[in-house]
Amino acid sequence: MIIKMKRIKKIIYISLVSVLICTIGCANMGSVSKNNNSTLSSHFKGLFHLGAAINEETILGKDSKSVSIVKSEFNSITPENSLKWMYIQPKANQFEFKAADRYVQLGLENDMYIVGHALVWHNQLADFMQTINDADEIQGYIANHINTVVSRYKGKIDAWDVVNEAFDEDGSLRKSVFYNNLGEDYIEDVFKLAEKADPQADLIYNDYNFYKPKKRAGILKMVKKFKSKGVKIDGVGVQAHWDLKSPSIDQIEQIILDVHAAGVPVSFTELDISVLPNPWEMVGAEVTQNFSQFEGDPKMSPYPNKLPSKVQKQLAKRYHDIFKLFVKHSDKINRVTFWGVMDKHSWLNDWPINGRTNYPLLFDRNYNPKPAYKSVLEVNTNPKN
Ligand code: XIL
Repeated sequence: MIIKMKRIKKIIYISLVSVLICTIGCANMGSVSKNNNSTLSSHFKGLFHLGAAINEETILGKDSKSVSIVKSEFNSITPENSLKWMYIQPKANQFEFKAADRYVQLGLENDMYIVGHALVWHNQLADFMQTINDADEIQGYIANHINTVVSRYKGKIDAWDVVNEAFDEDGSLRKSVFYNNLGEDYIEDVFKLAEKADPQADLIYNDYNFYKPKKRAGILKMVKKFKSKGVKIDGVGVQAHWDLKSPSIDQIEQIILDVHAAGVPVSFTELDISVLPNPWEMVGAEVTQNFSQFEGDPKMSPYPNKLPSKVQKQLAKRYHDIFKLFVKHSDKINRVTFWGVMDKHSWLNDWPINGRTNYPLLFDRNYNPKPAYKSVLEVNTNPKN
């Protein structure tokens, strides 16, 4: 794990509030931590941060069971939606910080590695941004967005997904509104703006389908270019929206080795394992893909009531194998973050087909740990074994 110097102000704050929090909160923790010696984050402590993406219900404290799991099981958080452009700056120069402020506060109070997701992304972008056809205008909005948001949480948010999903499957740059207006150097400029706003924060490039060699090569070429030019980039975020078979453990290992060879640590930023069949045309995790023709098709949602124990076991084994690999390469990994806390709230119930019942996480629909939770805790954390 890459150990980051925690800022002194933050440590003092944490020490003061932690006594108070434990007095109130320890009596209130979920069944998971009471019955086990280990939690997910304690099990992998010293190897990598263990995180979860949290939704607005959790951030605002409306889902107390989820909050309880997050506090006891994870030492890092990512906002599932609350820091995305369309929520933070829905109209030009109008910022909405309520949920984001609460999110950051939750992370500070619990001494967590706090992730900001995401500054520049073609999806979940405010409407006014999507139609801009002028380089200076879009550059002005990007600079203002980054300065305003990153500066507000300077010294508090530990890592930023600075740019999300800027590459196409063949390793070329996606023809997004950013690329179309600004050309290929826009990513470098955006990283420089983020560095200026908070020189201490870890700056991450985040994307899906790293297991595809051409896409990975395109991204890592950029990373190497940044490193050789001295443009600050502190890591690559591999989304990890995977399924029971794909990508293979060998393919995942190759990702880790190649990112490491490019000179930065890897974070698995959005881990979830779908157990459902997917339409064959689906490409990675592009969120705008929606296969409405399959809605209500029982073949596409074969487990509406319960996950059969056979599949439950496959899921547990898959997670075990993945974490075994992560431990083997923990010197190259900074963080592993699940995309959600419990199955019921996973985005995979509605993507890429609406209204399915998926089971991709470690906690079930009643907030109880699944066999996969146990299998992850059974991973030997001594990488030499
Ligand atoms: C997803 C959220 O989980 C959903 O709630 C939302 O409706 C769409 O976005 N890649 C990313 C994440 O980087 O931000 C996406 O999150 C999932 C794919």
